Amino acid sequence: NERINCIPEQFPTQAICAQRGCCWRPWNDSIIPWCFFAENHGYNAQGIETISTGVEAQLNRISSPTLFGNDLNSVLFTTESQTPNRFRFKITDLNKSRYEVPHQYLKSFTGPATSEALYDVIVNETPFSIQVIRKSNKNILFDSSIGPLVYADQYLQISTRLPSEYIYGIGEHNHKRFRHDLYWKTWPIFTRDQTPADYTNRTGHHTFFMCIEDTSGRSFGVFLMNSNAMEIFIQPPPVVTYRVTGGILDFYIFLGDTPEQVVQQYQELIGLPAMPAYWTLGFQLSRWSYTSLDVVKEVVKRNRDAGIPYDTQVTDIDYMEDKKDFTYDTVAFKGLPEFVQDLHDHGQKYVIILDPAISIGKRANGAAYETYDRGTAQHVWVNESDGTTPIIGEVWPGLTVYPDFTSPQCIDWWADECDRFHQEVSYDGLWIDMNEVSSFVQGSLKGCEENKWNYPPFTPDILDKILYSKTICMDSMQYWGRQYDVHSLYGYSMAIATEKAVQKVFPNKRSFILTRSTFAGTGKHAAHWLGDNFATWEQMEWSITGMLEFSLFGIPLVGADICGFVGDTTEELCRRWMQLGAFYPFSRNHNSETYEALCPFSFSPCPFKSSRHYLTIRYTLLPFLYTLFYKAHQFGETVARPILHEFYEDKNSWIEDTQFLWGPSLLITPVLKQGADTVSAYIPDATWYDYETVSNEGVLTCSNVFSYIKYLSYCQKKKQRVDMYLPADKIGLHLRGGYIIPIQQPSVTTTASRMNPLGLIIALNENNTAEGDFFWDDGETTDTIQNDNYILYTFSVSNNALKITCTHSSYQEGTSLAFETIKILGLTDSVTEVRVAENNQALNSHANFTYDASNQYQPLPLLILYFALSWK
Ligand SMILES: *[C@@H]1O[C@H](CO)[C@@H](O)[C@H](O)[C@H]1NC(C)=O
Ligand SMILES: *[C@@H]1O[C@H](CO)[C@@H](O)[C@H](O)[C@H]1NC(C)=O
Ligand SMILES: *[C@@H]1O[C@H](CO)[C@@H](O)[C@H](O)[C@H]1NC(C)=O
Ligand SMILES: *[C@@H]1O[C@H](CO)[C@@H](O)[C@H](O)[C@H]1NC(C)=O
Ligand SMILES: *[C@@H]1O[C@H](CO)[C@@H](O)[C@H](O)[C@H]1NC(C)=O
Ligand SMILES: *[C@@H]1O[C@H](CO)[C@@H](O)[C@H](O)[C@H]1NC(C)=O
Repeated sequence: NERINCIPEQFPTQAICAQRGCCWRPWNDSIIPWCFFAENHGYNAQGIETISTGVEAQLNRISSPTLFGNDLNSVLFTTESQTPNRFRFKITDLNKSRYEVPHQYLKSFTGPATSEALYDVIVNETPFSIQVIRKSNKNILFDSSIGPLVYADQYLQISTRLPSEYIYGIGEHNHKRFRHDLYWKTWPIFTRDQTPADYTNRTGHHTFFMCIEDTSGRSFGVFLMNSNAMEIFIQPPPVVTYRVTGGILDFYIFLGDTPEQVVQQYQELIGLPAMPAYWTLGFQLSRWSYTSLDVVKEVVKRNRDAGIPYDTQVTDIDYMEDKKDFTYDTVAFKGLPEFVQDLHDHGQKYVIILDPAISIGKRANGAAYETYDRGTAQHVWVNESDGTTPIIGEVWPGLTVYPDFTSPQCIDWWADECDRFHQEVSYDGLWIDMNEVSSFVQGSLKGCEENKWNYPPFTPDILDKILYSKTICMDSMQYWGRQYDVHSLYGYSMAIATEKAVQKVFPNKRSFILTRSTFAGTGKHAAHWLGDNFATWEQMEWSITGMLEFSLFGIPLVGADICGFVGDTTEELCRRWMQLGAFYPFSRNHNSETYEALCPFSFSPCPFKSSRHYLTIRYTLLPFLYTLFYKAHQFGETVARPILHEFYEDKNSWIEDTQFLWGPSLLITPVLKQGADTVSAYIPDATWYDYETVSNEGVLTCSNVFSYIKYLSYCQKKKQRVDMYLPADKIGLHLRGGYIIPIQQPSVTTTASRMNPLGLIIALNENNTAEGDFFWDDGETTDTIQNDNYILYTFSVSNNALKITCTHSSYQEGTSLAFETIKILGLTDSVTEVRVAENNQALNSHANFTYDASNQYQPLPLLILYFALSWK
């Protein structure tokens, strides 16, 4: 199992193995490498010196046969002990610079090295290897001695042995399980517009993983800052091997006390996620192939009539004239500006799609396509390898050029085009798609030249094993560099350019950017949906893992296309998916052309009832969700949270990925199997209250709980599975004792719901305590936190007192809202009086309350209190 494959790219033979100077030992199982490295490969370190940031050494190649040619004889190894919990090491060319990601957020570190590092670093000289050791428990977090360092012009390889078998992250792929399968798996990483049939390699480029060490919660993360095509190979000991086609080796290692901390440390490095506009947390409805505006109007009407909470209508490329950006079809979508006005009049929003590729053709009426002409005049296109001729490919509108979003002129041009179009159609947000970047022809209209970029000596196991398949040639040129190096940054740079556009179009407003292709740090600029999926039960299940992985990647505003994008859904699948999708941080129902228009919003029989019910609960909980996004934005906390982040002491929770949490306190248990009405649900170690029983004015009693959970003793059973009864119209929603959740009376849009009274649900734990908080601002102005234009409350309950502390109170309009209803779950004594105090002074008023002890059960009776409390 410790063999590091010496022939990763083709069928191994003894002859190739001998040529590479590796060991040949056939085995009874061909998944285990027959040809593997021995110690004659790698580098020796020479003259290890202490420098301001850490240590530095020259590494000299051990004379041995080459794998892919052009090995560097000497490379430079540098370390940076950046903070007590963050360590970086870099291996670069000694003599000349190689491509490095021009990341928009990362700052360079000049030292001095921290003197309080939680880690030790050992550099072995012959052969060179590096070990990063956690001081406290002596765990070796990173250990490259398991394999050789290979450093060639177009092939970089390094391996590390991990101290635990529980690793999470690396993307974007359709991982079926959240925890990685260690059984000899190759994960290629290179952004690509994959047809949905290729369900494994996807549109994002994420090289971060998190590994939990033990039940104390201690965890670490590893991030390779590199945008070149690569594959990450995982094998049982566990060992992770990176096979990278360019750039440099640039690793960051994060040490956390908990998994959540590691994710926070990673986001602190790459950029904390954007604070979303409040309305973007509302439900969004979309479809590819609304054949005309009349169809869209009909959909809007039907949903309004049905009272579905729904903030945003989205249109796909159908609204455009001949699929050209910044145009609309004045025949089929005649009246679009007025339609948008109608949405706005109803407190709703309108989001349009934009694809990067710009048509080189004329407008339908034969006139010039000015968007293209203006771009050409400003030289904003990606060029061929000559650096001057725009490369031509083909996408939806036919032959196209590609904006080079890494160039400042291009960003100005893009912002200007967005602004011009907004003056015609006053959209509220932008959905940027096809930005891997996608092309329907291989490389370009002319094909691609045979050279080292288009045909490198080693190609990871990506689509067609051709780097330029379904995209542009690898020798094409952008401002940030050659396509070979910058390809995976296309969507990332487009999101940054679109953010600049949004700043121009909506000065001081957050708006909304949704992107398909992502890179480390994209969350600072945009939201993400999990790309084209199928209307199948298993894809619905895998969407939970996909969503949790994007929580790790620092892109918390994420969700899958509810009900499935490709393929006909069924009423049952769509109903179950709407129940789950109501709890995706980003909640959108979108489906593809040529398939049956989707339930629930287009035809009957439709799961209107369930959709309306759970979207209404989503809207009730939006103040809580918004507060979680505040914490993501400020501190990098996850929103959709893996159970293991909260219950790491319980090893069983380390593999749970069919349930998830909102923050620390709302457990979501969806039904993921056809025909099922019972789910084998894991009950983590806490007191849990059934949200629905509680919120429906009912009282939580064991008999009540058991109506949802068939087989006994839910009240007592923790840290084990129970069969949770979830009939057709139910998803499991449980509040965790010890937490206080801010809520608001729901409405059909957030514009309306934001005016409604607030409330609190206090779920007591076994010690009769609870805590929580609440963030509120106007929901759309930028930088309200920096400008101190918000309200922040913290709540805590102990000794029968709810203490409300307002730490920020400078958002004036917010002060007219009151917490009109406060429900307390789990009181053990009966209540005779409720008093109100301010600054510990009892006020001359008693709150009105109701106490319902009639249905009390032991040991967790329920008390419901209603009283008004002013904001002061
Ligand atoms: C291969 O050999 C190993 C060790 O001798 C043994 O444990 C394993 O079961 C064998 N596998 C197969 C597929 O025969
Ligand atoms: C780096 O440059 C030095 C002299 O400038 C030269 O002797 C050495 O061979 C070069 N090393 C590599 C790896 O090119
Ligand atoms: C692309 O070519 C144009 C000339 O057509 C030039 O102005 C521009 O700078 C080039 N951009 C890049 C990144 O090569
Ligand atoms: C990636 O996609 C290619 C092409 O569809 C496929 O051959 C390959 O197996 C995929 N990789 C993984 C890890 O599934
Ligand atoms: C309750 O209090 C005990 C004693 O202080 C403590 O050990 C336990 O963790 C507390 N339980 C919860 C859920 O906070
Ligand atoms: C309590 O109820 C009484 C009677 O309904 C009402 O007059 C009073 O204003 C209420 N007090 C508070 C604090 O809401």
